[in-house]
Amino acid sequence: MTSAFSLKRPVFFIGFMGAGKTSVARRIARVCSLVSIDMDTYLERREGKTIADIFAEAGEEGFRALESEVLRDLATRAPQMVSCGGGVVLRPENRALLKAQGCVVYLRVSAETAARRISDISTRPLFRSLEAARATNEARVPLYEGAADIIVDTEKKAVNAIAGEVIAALQKEGVLCQSPR
Ligand code: S3P
Repeated sequence: MTSAFSLKRPVFFIGFMGAGKTSVARRIARVCSLVSIDMDTYLERREGKTIADIFAEAGEEGFRALESEVLRDLATRAPQMVSCGGGVVLRPENRALLKAQGCVVYLRVSAETAARRISDISTRPLFRSLEAARATNEARVPLYEGAADIIVDTEKKAVNAIAGEVIAALQKEGVLCQSPR
């Protein structure tokens, strides 16, 4: 017998650049026949510009305003897997929305591993150097931890393994439910 999965609330993936938020959300969506959406990709399509161009034209503040708009939009849709940009936790209004609307999964990663995973850092305007990334990540850890309902360490783990851990945790939380069909 096959089974169908459903989401009771949106699932938001947070964590530093290179944590694997997009890959893991996509993998879970594929395994469980659910929908996943990447906030940055959605924002780029909506604006018709790359993230790098938005940063260059409107600065980080301009980007953060658009990011909050997109989060508000995605948070009020039918529950889906949402991979968020790494800086989504910076604004208190975003943190409040994540907590109120969804289940928040923090994928933990070190700056060193993130640097290895990101193939082209020119697409990440805030990943300027390893040293800067380390400081940014460390400063954000309390925000990531404070917003999280579920924390999964991603060091030395493949996407499949991380996805498996997240699926188990979401089922335990009662957010991901399986029913026979
Ligand atoms: C950012 C992370 C990026 C993107 C933007 C800013 C950040 O998303 O939103 O470059 O502040 O950490 P990813 O975490 O998907 O790389």
